[in-house]
Amino acid sequence: MNVLLLGSGGREHALAWKLAQSPLMGAFFALPGNPGIAEFATCFDSVPLDDHDAIVTLCLAEKIDLVVVGPEAPLVDGIADRLINEGIAVFGPRRVAAQLEGSKLFTKELCKAHAIPTAAFGRFTDVEGARAFVQHHGAPIVLKADGLMAGKGVIVAMTLEEALAGVDEVFAMGGAGTEILIEEFLDGEEVSFFCLVDGETVLPFGSAQDHKRAFDNDEGPNTGGMGAYSPAPVFTAEMERRTLHEIVKPTARALADAASPFRGVLFAGLMITSEGPKLIEYNVRFGDPECQVLMMRMEGDLLPLLAAVATGRLEDQPVALKPDAAISVVMATKGYPGPYGKGSRIGGLEAAETIPGVKVFHAGTRREGDSILAHGGRVLTVTALGGNVAEARERAYDAIARIDWPEGFCRRDIAWRALGE
Ligand code: AMP
Ligand code: GLY
Repeated sequence: MNVLLLGSGGREHALAWKLAQSPLMGAFFALPGNPGIAEFATCFDSVPLDDHDAIVTLCLAEKIDLVVVGPEAPLVDGIADRLINEGIAVFGPRRVAAQLEGSKLFTKELCKAHAIPTAAFGRFTDVEGARAFVQHHGAPIVLKADGLMAGKGVIVAMTLEEALAGVDEVFAMGGAGTEILIEEFLDGEEVSFFCLVDGETVLPFGSAQDHKRAFDNDEGPNTGGMGAYSPAPVFTAEMERRTLHEIVKPTARALADAASPFRGVLFAGLMITSEGPKLIEYNVRFGDPECQVLMMRMEGDLLPLLAAVATGRLEDQPVALKPDAAISVVMATKGYPGPYGKGSRIGGLEAAETIPGVKVFHAGTRREGDSILAHGGRVLTVTALGGNVAEARERAYDAIARIDWPEGFCRRDIAWRALGE
């Protein structure tokens, strides 16, 4: 099977590493890829991800059988629709179903129509209405601007003053046509839960917990994710059963019934509350760095699974995960998620991977001759498998100690919840 992988992050490196182990793999290409992915796939960095014509041309020229889409932006832009029209199988939903991530409002309305547990909400296009709603409900309360805002469109206001100031800020920034969602605050522990969905069949893949804040003790600004581990102890078999039954399956059913079936990986961002699991948001892709820990734990061949999702032939048999725990620690350039420099040299990557169970996935790196240089905010995801979370963590931090990169930083407390710290 000839495969084209879209994306360039740590998530895509982990997917490439796992896919490349498949005996079914034929020619393997990535666009744009990264220096880690280049070990397994021919990378084309001259075609931008939003040039759908060029992507189709590449697929036809290289006789691609399956396109695996890593990030959400091309899906929300309709890359799956375009490829399917050309007869090319694609792992990732069409534009309509990708609205589960692209539009918070789409998801909230779907939840309401199908009684899927999520935070109660109101939607407003005027500042007065929004302020009145906030006054009425009080704090804590959550404000969300619709659309893809790279996670920055959410304000969790702990006081009434903060909430009212947030409403003013959203309307001041958004200008005409601004719409704001105001949500009930959900109290609990967050979990990322991943399911493969081929339109009809829903196959649980696994759970993980992410660390969104930049610094130890969950302090500092929100980021794309500073580390993850799997499994998430709070996500018990009973919670998984309830989430499938109350949240994920009704969502897949609703989309299939509306003639817009979801095909791809459905990432449910959940809050485990005292009443049970509630949906915070959906993403239509694997999480980053959650994907890295899931790929480390997965047994068996990923490629036929992704192909079965793409062609609507998923069988109802569980994805086998090793009972071991995996942890992924993000190494970022100092300054991230604010402004940061590029071009610093990273050493010790081979030494890091000599530690048993360790794999260093590249995210924002660039190769220059024999050197690997930092080229982004999140640069490496140092991922380790161990018999339990404590062992996995020790291995990951031992590996990090071997990486020579003074311009980088990482959190030292990834998986603190699982370790009861
Ligand atoms: P989102 O972009 O919807 O994932 O929101 C970003 C983060 O804000 C989530 O990961 C949660 O930590 C937090 N959050 C979002 N909605 C709520 C809510 N209704 N209650 C509590 N926290 C929330
Ligand atoms: N790690 C969170 C995300 O990928 O959205």
